[in-house]
Amino acid sequence: MTVGAEGVREVTFDDLPGLLPWARVLLGSEAPEVRRKTREAIEREFERDKWGSLLKALEAPGRRWGVGDAERWFIGDEETVFSAGDRLCAGSALAAQARFVDEVAARLLPFLPAEGLVELGAGYGGVLLNLAKRTGFEGIGLAAGELTAAGVECLRRLAAVEGLAVHAGRCDFTAPGICRFEVAPGSAIYTCGAVPYVRELTRAFVDDLRALGPAAVVHIEPCPEHYGDDPLGRLRSAYASANDYNRNLVSLLHERAEAGDITLLREEKCFFGPNCLLPFSLVAWVPARGVS
Ligand SMILES: C[S@@+](CC[C@H](N)C(=O)[O-])C[C@H]1O[C@@H](n2cnc3c(N)ncnc32)[C@H](O)[C@@H]1O
Repeated sequence: MTVGAEGVREVTFDDLPGLLPWARVLLGSEAPEVRRKTREAIEREFERDKWGSLLKALEAPGRRWGVGDAERWFIGDEETVFSAGDRLCAGSALAAQARFVDEVAARLLPFLPAEGLVELGAGYGGVLLNLAKRTGFEGIGLAAGELTAAGVECLRRLAAVEGLAVHAGRCDFTAPGICRFEVAPGSAIYTCGAVPYVRELTRAFVDDLRALGPAAVVHIEPCPEHYGDDPLGRLRSAYASANDYNRNLVSLLHERAEAGDITLLREEKCFFGPNCLLPFSLVAWVPARGVS
């Protein structure tokens, strides 16, 4: 989805209040109420509202939805403002998501082949199931971990319709060991848009990922620590604060790299945002050699 593609136009920061309700709120005179990410709020958002409702839709008699159908149902085709590097563009939300998966695929491919490809916090599999169908991802063992039972069930059903074998189970970034399913050592493990739901990650998060014996860990995540101090950077920071999103992934990984526990492989700031207020960065690492 590029500028000039059907319905896509470049916009400026000054256009945002006219296009995005959140920009109007955040640039207004009253500070918005912070949406605290308590465990209850996360369960309500995903177990009940998002993946719970999707599961009901998937279970409708006679329905055989694939991941594309689920995406159309979940994302809809409203106009949104997405960001591609420094550019802001208005276009369809569904097309912005498709472009996002292209961008994710291009960034994960350098970490393949591996013993497996594992997404943690995978939701209904919107990213993993789309990646699995792309060139370069064929034949790799797929696994997915997700916090909610409803998300795991949606992912299993969609994978079955797509004819994809995915080993899916529960995971929790805040629980000892993280995964409640087997992860093949030597896998490329990634997270995508799931870490924001843990406001403050602890050292145990990194230690538990290291203990899975990954070939690489790739976080494709909104990282408020990467936002600049220009008007757009400040608006993005205000959005992350109002939504109580994680704010320490980058500093935690830097701290562990400086201590010699992990080796940082790559860091790319704010490469794409299907929602321009929440651009995604990439931080990739491996356990440091010689550390158990
Ligand atoms: C915005 S969705 C992203 C889903 C998927 N990664 C994608 O990009 O389509 C965030 C996901 O993170 C999951 N999540 C929230 N807190 C989590 C935690 N503590 N451990 C693992 N997953 C979590 C939610 O259940 C939800 O499925």
